[in-house]
Amino acid sequence: MSAPIQSVRGMNDILPEETPLWQRVEEAVRGVLAAYGYQEIRTPVLERTELFARSIGAVTDIVEKEMYTFTDRNGDSLSLRPEGTAGCVRACLQHGLLRGQSHRLWYQGPMFRHERPQKGRYRQFHQIGVEVFGIPGPDVDAELILMCARVWRTLGLVEDLRLEINTLGDAEARRRHRADLVAYFRAHEAELDADSRRRLETNPLRILDSKNPEMAEVIAGAPSLLDYLDAEAKAHFEGFRKRLDEAGVRYTVNPRLVRGLDYYNRTVFEWITDRLGAQGTVCAGGRYDGLVEQLGGRPTPAVGFALGLERIVALLEGERGTAAAARAPHAYLAAVGEGPERAALGLAERLRDAVPGLRLAANCGGGSFKAQLKRADRSGAAVALILGEDELAAGRITLKWLREAGRGQETLDLEAAAAALRTLVEAGSRPAG
Ligand code: HAM
Repeated sequence: MSAPIQSVRGMNDILPEETPLWQRVEEAVRGVLAAYGYQEIRTPVLERTELFARSIGAVTDIVEKEMYTFTDRNGDSLSLRPEGTAGCVRACLQHGLLRGQSHRLWYQGPMFRHERPQKGRYRQFHQIGVEVFGIPGPDVDAELILMCARVWRTLGLVEDLRLEINTLGDAEARRRHRADLVAYFRAHEAELDADSRRRLETNPLRILDSKNPEMAEVIAGAPSLLDYLDAEAKAHFEGFRKRLDEAGVRYTVNPRLVRGLDYYNRTVFEWITDRLGAQGTVCAGGRYDGLVEQLGGRPTPAVGFALGLERIVALLEGERGTAAAARAPHAYLAAVGEGPERAALGLAERLRDAVPGLRLAANCGGGSFKAQLKRADRSGAAVALILGEDELAAGRITLKWLREAGRGQETLDLEAAAAALRTLVEAGSRPAG
């Protein structure tokens, strides 16, 4: 026998015991997005490499070293998307969505980055992202934060997350700041590590993001971008903060928050947890008013964020069992004997018609009564529906309650059985607590 083939390192299978929790998270986020009037967009996982170089930035970590890039059979350089914003802007431009209209969009799917895998950091990971086009003011920045906060409330994660915000100002302020920053770090070059020395030439802002404790002092003394903001960018940031204050959202201003993608300006933010070690950012985003134009469109204000599903699921790991139980079948239909076996699939169809929302697993592949009951138990169903020769002849069905002490079994006509199942379904769909 040859050795079984393993998955690619850093790319995970999500197994049936895990998917119920993923579904719960995805449904919660989708519910919130719908409540704010956002519309879904779906774009390919492959794009031209140039799209990412021109948007995320040619000298960012993502584009320099983390993309899965290959030349296809036509000789085109293509890359698996490392994030969703670039593809979303490309699609909007290509289909003329941005002509004088505003759009509130969301997307979901796998992203790919060749990073060093560790807890919370994978080479294929999943995001739900949001992008808003055509709204220049800070009100929509604040709406995004409120939307995130609602997601955290829905998932019971409020206590686990804190919000950090910053503003990167506009291009001109950043140019002046960059010049002073480079001059400052040049004067302190001996205190920089090799990585930061390299960044001095390419992306000096990212030096501020360094986690090297030996550089903490020199970073603390560096010129702060906040001192360079022009009046408009300042007013935007103040407008954003005021709206958060009014809505009672707690946050800290972190002037060192710069983000790893080049397209941002003005508002940036991250939701961070201390429960996941080094990979604590579960959601991040900001404004990118220049990107649409950079990619060949008319100037269009834009803002968005993406949340990392692996990290959110990890925070909710303790709820895996209850999430799975909530999605187990309500009922398992066991059929014993030749006639009942033949009739079972038809009966299952009728029950599904009669009881909206019923999750009914019908036994397939035969087996003794005992074996079928064992499968019923393992399926997690609350009740086994037993169709034997006697039941078939009488047009009835036996309900054997599997998880309620003291509630044994009862043989009912089909209408009464459907009514009992309806009660079961309704009890399960009532919001808990
Ligand atoms: P990002 O900060 O690169 O931003 O990623 C957003 C989130 O995706 C992170 O906060 C994290 O939760 C998750 N994430 C990123 N890389 C990994 C990884 N290797 N493994 C697991 N999770 C990961 C963006 O992608 C921007 N497109 C967000 C945005 C949208 N900005 C404006 N619009």
